[in-house]
Amino acid sequence: MNLTGKIQKLKKEKKAVILAHNYQRPEVQDIADYVGDSIELSRKAMLEHDAEIIVFAAVDFMAESAALLNPAKKVLLPSLGARCPMAQMLTVDEIKRVKVHYPDAPVVLYVNTLASSKAYCYICCTSANAVEVINSLDANTVIFGPDRNLAEYVAEKTGKTLIPIPEWGFCPTHVLFQPEDVTILKQQYSDAVVMVHPECSAEMRGVADFVGSTSKMCRYARETPAKTVIVGTEEGLLHRLRKENPEKQFIIAYKDAVCPNMKLTTLDRVYASLKEEKYVVKVPESIAGKARIALERMFEVKS
Ligand code: 13P
Ligand code: SF4
Repeated sequence: MNLTGKIQKLKKEKKAVILAHNYQRPEVQDIADYVGDSIELSRKAMLEHDAEIIVFAAVDFMAESAALLNPAKKVLLPSLGARCPMAQMLTVDEIKRVKVHYPDAPVVLYVNTLASSKAYCYICCTSANAVEVINSLDANTVIFGPDRNLAEYVAEKTGKTLIPIPEWGFCPTHVLFQPEDVTILKQQYSDAVVMVHPECSAEMRGVADFVGSTSKMCRYARETPAKTVIVGTEEGLLHRLRKENPEKQFIIAYKDAVCPNMKLTTLDRVYASLKEEKYVVKVPESIAGKARIALERMFEVKS
């Protein structure tokens, strides 16, 4: 039996589901029960009532959110090294330090943070609902972290003041995109439209026809009449885009835009994860309660 067959067999025996982020390797996306963006994966994890095990093919903070929202299930991260560097950029000390200067400003954190930080925020958001989450708050000044580009994008969209924490937080993969590459590609593909993730720089967002989360980009790609789409996000999304739109052409705006952390999940590691039930993601109860409330508040906001 090949590896795919072995994974399918184990999945059935152990009542497991595999959830994969849109940036995962093609073969991991293809074996998954569900592929989506960060909020869709969290929602899906909550709806998998019959599953006893959730294999989370993604990075640490996404698996942590699933564990927080599903305390009765075993959540597995196939590679312990799959850690989002942006999530590591925000410490609890930094939140406390900035909060002293803005005591009335609520703290809103992108889900790309560790549970320890989430426990110190009022509400979480993802790139799919950040504008709606900020608009749902009474406050005009909001402390927001850790992605400075997302903070600037949301400030433009809402007209509110967002204080970025840390001041310099960024995604090492999305900052690789440069508008001059889009200019060159547009000379070659003059009818192409451009879609980018809000973690890209303001300059990249400035040359885009559409800015949105990975799943919102999938929707835009389906709906646009354009036959060629230039894509400003991690290259893993192109597998799904091409699968769902075989008649369209997708071109990555920068070919080395790879998130190495997302790529640590291989089929071999998914198999080992299921077989040995590793690595179990557990959030200490001392922070889980508060972090869960911040996530649950996010789900109450309509987007
Ligand atoms: P999405 O929520 O758009 O899937 O993004 C998650 C992420 O890590 C982007 O780099
Ligand atoms: Fe983190 Fe960027 Fe990788 Fe997303 S693409 S998981 S934000 S490092």
